[in-house]
Amino acid sequence: MGEAKRKATVVFDTMWRSTEMMAAEITRGIASKGVEVRLFNLRNSDWSEIIKEIVDSRVIVVGSPALNMGMYPTVGGFLTFLRGIRPPNKKAAAFGSYGWGKGAVKAMDKELENMRFEVLPSLEIKYVPGEEELKKML
Ligand SMILES: Cc1cc2nc3c(=O)[nH]c(=O)nc-3n(C[C@H](O)[C@H](O)[C@H](O)COP(=O)(O)O)c2cc1C
Repeated sequence: MGEAKRKATVVFDTMWRSTEMMAAEITRGIASKGVEVRLFNLRNSDWSEIIKEIVDSRVIVVGSPALNMGMYPTVGGFLTFLRGIRPPNKKAAAFGSYGWGKGAVKAMDKELENMRFEVLPSLEIKYVPGEEELKKML
């Protein structure tokens, strides 16, 4: 497994773009700290390419909207894909938009813990993030 650089990878999927807005702001926040960061929408990215970036990163940030008390299927699929890689010594954090009962972040945290990531505090926002909420992500 490659030596992890001072680098982060942000991956997400979204239905109506709230989680995408959060992903963009989180990416901007990481970059503003001088850390190299790449952002991937799972819907239009090559997952093998994302895995390569993750192997190279110290931190992975995963975003999903809440869907039926869980995470979006592509995000669940991607974490299943990642499980086979068992990336060692990395930190991970989950984020996402929800509407009522939440569920995605809890499910992502559980998967990430099972993969032995050091799981950092998560971030959930109800529906579309407001300007103040977006600022908090920087
Ligand atoms: C089919 C469907 C199921 C949903 N299930 C949940 C749920 O279980 N819990 C919840 O908090 N929100 C649920 N939502 C609401 C979305 O999580 C919410 O609209 C969120 O803002 C979508 O984020 P996005 O804009 O990134 O797609 C559901 C939405 C849809 C369309």
